[in-house]
This record gives sequence, C-alpha cells and structure tokens, in this order.
Amino acid sequence: MVEREPSSSERPSSERLRFREMTIDDLDAMSDLLGDPEVMAHYPRPKTRAEAQAWVEWNLANYARDGFGLWIIEDLEGRFVGDCGLTWQRVEGREDLEIGYHVVPAMQGRGLASEGARACRELARRRGIERLIAIVHPDNRASQRVAEKCGLVLEQEFGDQRFRVYAAALP
Ligand SMILES: CC(C)(COP(=O)(O)OP(=O)(O)OC[C@H]1O[C@@H](n2cnc3c(N)ncnc32)[C@H](O)[C@@H]1OP(=O)(O)O)[C@@H](O)C(=O)NCCC(=O)NCCS
Repeated sequence: MVEREPSSSERPSSERLRFREMTIDDLDAMSDLLGDPEVMAHYPRPKTRAEAQAWVEWNLANYARDGFGLWIIEDLEGRFVGDCGLTWQRVEGREDLEIGYHVVPAMQGRGLASEGARACRELARRRGIERLIAIVHPDNRASQRVAEKCGLVLEQEFGDQRFRVYAAALP
C-alpha cells in the first residue's frame, strides 16, 4: 500500500502556465478537449459529455482526498491550454502516482506539456512522493517524449496493447 501524504491544496507553478483546480464550470472546455478525436487518438474513443463530466467529478474527488489531481492549465492570458497533474493509478497490482496531460491542438508543439509535467514532478517531490510514472500507448510518441523530457524512462510494457510504463525515482 502506498503511503499517502495528508491533503494540501498546493499547486504546481511554472513560467508560462497557471494551474488551478477544475470545477464543473470547466465542463464545456473539458468536454471539447476530451471529445476531440485528435486529442483522444490513443484512447479507445473520444469521451462523451457525460464521460467528460465524470472526469471532472473524478478530479474533484481526487482534490478532496489527495490534495491533488489533474489541474486545469491556462496560459498567462488565461487561455485554456488543457489539463495536467497527478493521479493514483494501479498497474498490475502496484499503485503509483501518474503524471498526466492533455493539451488542446492549437497549443501543442510549444513545450507546454513538458513544462507542466516538470512542474508536477517538482510538486510531487516536495510532497514526499518517491516514484512517479506515466502510462502511455505504444504509438503515442508525443506523450512518450513528454515523459522522457520529464526524466522518466521506459520501465515495462503490459497488457495486450503493450502499454508502456515510464518511471522515475524522485530524489
Ligand atoms: C502529449 C501532448 C500532451 C504533448 O503536448 P505538447 O504541449 O505538444 O508537448 P511538448 O510541446 O511539451 O513536447 C512534445 C514533445 O513531443 C514531440 N512530439 C510531438 N508530436 C510528436 C510526434 N507525433 N512524434 C514524435 N514526437 C512528437 C515534440 O517534438 C516534443 O519533443 P522535443 O521537444 O524533443 O522536440 C499532446 O500531444 C496531447 O495532448 N496529446 C493528446 C493527449 C494525450 O495523448 N495525452 C497523454 C496521454 S498518455
């Protein structure tokens, strides 16, 4: 069983991004993001609005339980960039903290996911988390690259689809 730190509402911070907790008022933006076939190319299918609402509600529960989750990321002008953050995931019986990210197509290719992921890694380290992972579809090169740029290295593949687990021990 993974030791969980007590709740705290501390958020990551980075040069070009603002992190804030999502609320149900973000459902339109989150539904557009997670309903976009390009963004969801490596998921079974794009999410419906109801599934996007469940995603928001899952994160509200994560904030309440853990003090973190996937946060909304915005640029300094307040434009919606996507979500990025930390959630507990179970891979083959082992529970680990995963770093996750989705960026709207118009904002991709500017290094924002990598910047956000590094800020989340730093927050996890400050919170005493000892190990961070990213679970990535084998064809999702962009996401693999973000994981690598955040210092995670390929550790294992699992399941029929050979999902990749990238991992790093946090000093
Ligand atoms: C993965 C994702 C968040 C990356 O966002 P981003 O802000 O464009 O990422 P960055 O600009 O920080 O960096 C991406 C890196 O991947 C590389 N990359 C992007 N698309 C690529 C592709 N199709 N093939 C290979 N490399 C690619 C970039 O060149 C960059 O690496 P570099 O700095 O060495 O050149 C974005 O593509 C996305 O939202 N994808 C859909 C959602 C998703 O798959 N999320 C992850 C689920 S595991």
